Amino acid sequence: MQNFLTTLARPFFRRVVVSKPSTPPSSSRPLGRAALAVSFIFFAAAGISAPTDPTDLKFSDQADALLARMSVSEKIGQLVLLTGYGATTGPVQQQSALEDSIRQGDCGNVFNVLGVAQIHRLQKIAVAETRLKIPLMFGFDTIHGYRTIFPISLGESASWDLALIESAARIAAIESSAAGLNWTFAPMVDIARDPRWGRVSEGAGEDPVLGSAIARARVRGFQGTNLAAPDTVLACVKHFAAYGAAQAGRDYHTVDLSERTLREVYLPPFRAAIEAGALSVMTAFNELNGTPATANRFLLQQILRDEWGFTGLVVTDYTSINEMVAHGTAADEAEAGRQALDAGVDLDMQGSVYLKHLKQLLASGAITETQINTAAKRILEIKFRLGLFDDPYRYCDEQREARLLLAPEHRAVAYQMACDSFVLLKNEAQALPLKSGVHLAVIGPLAEARLDLLGSWMGTGSSEGIKTILGGIQRNNPAGKVSFAKGCDVMSPKQDGFAAAMNIARQADVTVIVLGENGNMSGEAKSRTSINLPGGQTELLRAIKSLGKPVIVVLLSGRPLALEEEARLADALLAVWFPGTEGGRAVADTLFGKHNPGGKLPVTFPRNLGQVPIYYSAKNTGRPLDPAQPRAEYKSSYLDAPNDPLFPFGFGLSYTRFEFSEVQLDHSQLPHGGELTATVTVTNAGQRAGTEVVQLYLRDLVGSVTRPLLEMKGFQKIALQPGEHRTISFRLGPPELSFLRQNLTWGTEPGTFEVLVGPNSRDLKRARFELLRE
Ligand code: NOJ
Repeated sequence: MQNFLTTLARPFFRRVVVSKPSTPPSSSRPLGRAALAVSFIFFAAAGISAPTDPTDLKFSDQADALLARMSVSEKIGQLVLLTGYGATTGPVQQQSALEDSIRQGDCGNVFNVLGVAQIHRLQKIAVAETRLKIPLMFGFDTIHGYRTIFPISLGESASWDLALIESAARIAAIESSAAGLNWTFAPMVDIARDPRWGRVSEGAGEDPVLGSAIARARVRGFQGTNLAAPDTVLACVKHFAAYGAAQAGRDYHTVDLSERTLREVYLPPFRAAIEAGALSVMTAFNELNGTPATANRFLLQQILRDEWGFTGLVVTDYTSINEMVAHGTAADEAEAGRQALDAGVDLDMQGSVYLKHLKQLLASGAITETQINTAAKRILEIKFRLGLFDDPYRYCDEQREARLLLAPEHRAVAYQMACDSFVLLKNEAQALPLKSGVHLAVIGPLAEARLDLLGSWMGTGSSEGIKTILGGIQRNNPAGKVSFAKGCDVMSPKQDGFAAAMNIARQADVTVIVLGENGNMSGEAKSRTSINLPGGQTELLRAIKSLGKPVIVVLLSGRPLALEEEARLADALLAVWFPGTEGGRAVADTLFGKHNPGGKLPVTFPRNLGQVPIYYSAKNTGRPLDPAQPRAEYKSSYLDAPNDPLFPFGFGLSYTRFEFSEVQLDHSQLPHGGELTATVTVTNAGQRAGTEVVQLYLRDLVGSVTRPLLEMKGFQKIALQPGEHRTISFRLGPPELSFLRQNLTWGTEPGTFEVLVGPNSRDLKRARFELLRE
């Protein structure tokens, strides 16, 4: 099942920037549909005749023909997306009201309706009771699984295993489509560097290159190769854009960001998802530099459509047109609607602003019918692509639904994905793996968790049939003894369970203590001002450790936590995120060594909240702190804490030990436009088979603008048997050496580069080369 892809994560800037001409699109990667459109623009700009995609033209013609038969009201109805009666994140309407809206042609798309029976019933209203019989699209937040729940997205990302991540998305699509859906509001690709923000859990972490690679994998998994196949769903890349940069980590808060950082850090995963073929984009709730993202022409028109050539549909987030009144850029909802349509928003999620106001806006001349046509056409085209006009019930097969949800083969992948997502942060004196046959104390408020194992956005996952971590430990230790005491609740400071917990720990050989956040402490609107372990959990750990016996900490969380003391107290520390349906078994099997953890942090773990935002690709500053003189004055540093994080980006241990050779470069000087190869040999010097993620970073020492100390440019996940070694190569050429120069064009500059390779962003071997002038 494990497919160790050789991945040199090609960054996004093999691109066509129409307004700022630059490098042509990559020829090394197959182009997705949107990228194809980009290539049309490129070819046109270059004066070369563009290849034509007859399928694109067919859908366009079909949509035009239908549009020509539609009234203005029918067109506006297509621009409406209303929630059904499932999980929601805002106001909801009655079921009967929804049905009436569909019947009247006022609602062309629905989300949060679960199951074939319900979806079939609503679809029948659309195709049997409306004049033009236009089928509905059905969306849902299938984020990390529909019924079989995989680890939260951040956890999946910690596997750095693109093939496995793609498989998880594929299964999520298979189950969603079996349940009647044809659209998922995923992948969420927001770069997140502030652990206070609860939605860190939904993305791929802090790095644009890792984030882009994962975005591509997820889009491929959701959409497959044929959007009309009954087992694929339309992907929706969200939230466009820079939602993760909310001030102080408070959800929905202001984003004020330079264009440079936006383009270098926050946009690449969106671009990657679109190049991989994602055909829908969701706007973000936040404002960006004074303009709400949902009315942001710079984002939605200039970047998305003009520069990237995106041809799919743009949907708002939940009532985000209405929210522009609260943002204060529109006096009323009608004006907000005008602004959104003008900026290029096609579909209004749950706000009914388009439904209520577009007709009047048209009558007053504030908008044109062409604008309405453009938006409606984009939505209709997608419906044609999905095959809904050929068979509106294409996704409504109850037998498929019964057979596929929670299918054993899906659970097997969820188990593997969970195992591969775990990050071993500490393992003193080989405290792990556990030996069976001993007396174990299992303590902690999450040891018996079921639903909490699923995390936020858990689809239709349920606690039914879920094995706990405690249960998994018991099964792994049949010849030994396992005692359990909860110790405390997740959120409560109460210590009345401590005595019982200490009592069993005293008698045991080793304690496994399962701590962390509740499953619903991360996700939307789950910002925290503290990133410590909640409640009295640290005190519980302290009490148990005072007994002087080995303590293994299993940590559940949807974000990086500040764990300086906990990491010191623990003999071993295993971060398991929220591991999903098969998480309990996967955690226990990993503790006992049936699986060797190989996950790596996709996000930095700070020492404390005061260091936030902290990320590996920081700049040097004019007064960098010399690590050899950590107390030097007037340096960029803190009085009360070191600069470095507790656990750096890319970090994760293994039950085996890997050794890295020095880095070899095949050139010490590189002509302009040239390529070089960096090689390193990695040896498994330990006693067990294991996986390592070999990471390559670059530092461009002098530029027309300051460059980060490190930028990851590639990674490869490899599996090695004990004693085995492998030589790994990375190719570095213009795409990797380019950056957004002072004039905001992408390109390289001559000078010295450092190439750094290692198992994480801290422990690196380095070599240098010089890029020569043109
Ligand atoms: C709000 C969230 O921000 C978004 O991610 C989600 O897709 C929608 N609600 C729909 O549930």
